[in-house]
Amino acid sequence: MIAYKLLFVDPDMNALDAYRRLLKAMRPKWSASYAANGREAIQMMRKSKPDVLITELNMRIENDADLLKAVQKFYPEVIRIVLSSEPDTQAETILSATQSAHRFLAKPCKGENLLAHVEQAAELRKIIYSQELREIIGGMPYLPSLPQLYHELIHAMEAPLVSVADLGDIIARDVSMTTRVLHLVNSAFFGLPRQVSNPREAAVMLGMNVLKSLILYVKLFFAAPDSRLPGFSLDDLWEHSSLTARLSREIAKDLAGNSRIQEDAFLSGMLHDVGKLLLLEHPKYINSVIRRQSQDSDLSFADAEYQEFSVSHAEVGGYLLGLWGLPDPVVEAVACHHRPSQISGEPSPVLAATYLANALLCRQSGAELKLDENLLNQDEIKRMLATWDRQAAKLYEEHKNS
Ligand SMILES: [Fe+2]
Ligand SMILES: [Fe+2]
Repeated sequence: MIAYKLLFVDPDMNALDAYRRLLKAMRPKWSASYAANGREAIQMMRKSKPDVLITELNMRIENDADLLKAVQKFYPEVIRIVLSSEPDTQAETILSATQSAHRFLAKPCKGENLLAHVEQAAELRKIIYSQELREIIGGMPYLPSLPQLYHELIHAMEAPLVSVADLGDIIARDVSMTTRVLHLVNSAFFGLPRQVSNPREAAVMLGMNVLKSLILYVKLFFAAPDSRLPGFSLDDLWEHSSLTARLSREIAKDLAGNSRIQEDAFLSGMLHDVGKLLLLEHPKYINSVIRRQSQDSDLSFADAEYQEFSVSHAEVGGYLLGLWGLPDPVVEAVACHHRPSQISGEPSPVLAATYLANALLCRQSGAELKLDENLLNQDEIKRMLATWDRQAAKLYEEHKNS
């Protein structure tokens, strides 16, 4: 078992003592530090950077700055978990912390649950070895929305008879907004017994007041700026994501009748390229990939990424969604959508559906893609492949003519 380095910050001495006892009893090999306030915490971090920070809300450092925001800025690769007794999930402090914390847990939290969250988030780091990439993902979770959908949402919010489900329907059409609302409702703060994959349902759970505060005050969503990198279009990415979501759900329906799996397959199809959205803000990364591609015209974007960085936007997206607590089958499908064989054992129906939907649609747009042989050897996939290929062609044609 890996020994992680943790830093707990809590003004309540009894809480710190309880964390000490918990670690000693259950993870004696982990090292942990304990701080009673933000200033102490930041001093400790300057000496030794933890893997995971577990903090109460509203901890202040020098100049009254917020600890979470400072850590996000200066130590972006540190995983940030809020463990708070703040009883009101509508409170402004919680809502604004959604911009800087990866996970939210409510006190009282069972010791084993707390450690499981810490472990699960820290384990994700195995996906991404590069410190630079971890910093990109951990430090700047700004995901741009499609401008027309963002404006549609703002406009809809002002309409007198709009329901929260109507807003949810708009959110469900945008990759970034979907990711954000699912991040929130899947945080343990909302105390849900299961993970939520449906953004409309997530919007309804948050409720109109919280949703409005998030949009208007926290500014959780924002429209993508005009200037984009040459060769990349947010519109194309959005179209591709929504087609992949639809095909992925159809494939999942054939592979496993279960509606939960279909919902997860739709979501992972929608979010599979979320890593690209994040990396688009980093021209240095994108330019290195494009340079690599220009040296070998047969290389796909993802293959060029693997050659250059040993990971791709797939793992980057999976890492972000995992940190944000999205459902595990979705995280796995997003992380492995270019290399399904990198997981041991047979791929889940969600991963198989996402992988095939993306690959078949990419082929429709002219990409030369060799399908994964392990998957093709599965009887059900062999039998249905031609049908799914026809569905991909139909969806692609419909979209081109729309
Ligand atoms: Fe991709
Ligand atoms: Fe894709």
